[in-house]
Amino acid sequence: MEYQGKTALITGASSGIGQQYAEEFARRGSNVILVARRVEALEKLSKQIAKDFGVKADVIAMDLSTLSSGDALMAALAKGKHNVDILVNNAGFGTAGRFQKEDRARVQQEIILNIGTLTDLTAAMLPAMLKRNFGAIVNIASTASFQPVPGMAVYAATKAYVRSFTSAVWGEVQGTGVKVLTVNPGATATEFFDVAGANPFGGLAPISDVINATFKALDSKNTPPSIVVGTQNGMMAAISSRLPLKSVVKFAGKMFLPKV
Ligand SMILES: NC(=O)c1ccc[n+]([C@@H]2O[C@H](COP(=O)([O-])OP(=O)(O)OC[C@H]3O[C@@H](n4cnc5c(N)ncnc54)[C@H](OP(=O)(O)O)[C@@H]3O)[C@@H](O)[C@H]2O)c1
Repeated sequence: MEYQGKTALITGASSGIGQQYAEEFARRGSNVILVARRVEALEKLSKQIAKDFGVKADVIAMDLSTLSSGDALMAALAKGKHNVDILVNNAGFGTAGRFQKEDRARVQQEIILNIGTLTDLTAAMLPAMLKRNFGAIVNIASTASFQPVPGMAVYAATKAYVRSFTSAVWGEVQGTGVKVLTVNPGATATEFFDVAGANPFGGLAPISDVINATFKALDSKNTPPSIVVGTQNGMMAAISSRLPLKSVVKFAGKMFLPKV
């Protein structure tokens, strides 16, 4: 796909996977719009990207976990006269622990950010991409999307939504110049597990695995609806979809459900 001179908006660009997406789009010649709450981290990244790659790197500091976040972001883009060619809905977080002990307000924010804003931004930006017959929407789900996860019940459910929704929209844009892709990373070395207050099961893959898999899929002639990052994760996802639900849920619970 063509990146030179295009504009890529990355949500959750202040750390982790989003930060590296921003750098990679810039390396390929795209101007980038960096969105997240931590303005200092975004400003620092913006300066570094402009210096290293000679592209424009704009910052929009914004909380995306409210019901009006989509409108607010679209208003900020209109004010800056930005046309977004590539949207990466990467901002997200997880909550962990037994569901009955979870903080209800935090769970609401998790659902709004991981599902609501992702859907709204897709809705807001897809029509213009279709009109231009060019664009891409990359939505970040997770290997947690392949099975219910006791101990991360809401997080896994939000990511199952992302994969289902994004794959359906992929089905709607076939035959157009717009690419739609779900990316399902496994446990990756970012701030994610600290924020969630959970322990990863097994090792953490480097962020570059997520970035490389994404660009391979975007650059292929037939971009699939959904990719799983890492061969072993791909095998686990395939097994989860075939085993009886009872076994899959019990196994996931053994990995993530706190003992008390
Ligand atoms: N790391 C993993 O193991 C893993 C595995 C599968 C999927 N994922 C998914 O990958 C995506 C990126 O996460 P990560 O691993 O890179 O974790 P991370 O380092 O914690 O990054 C999360 C990003 O989301 C932003 N964010 C969080 N809450 C926000 C809010 N209310 N408004 C705006 N931005 C917000 C954060 O920025 P601010 O705090 O500055 O707002 C940060 O830039 C997430 O969707 C996550 O679910 C991660």
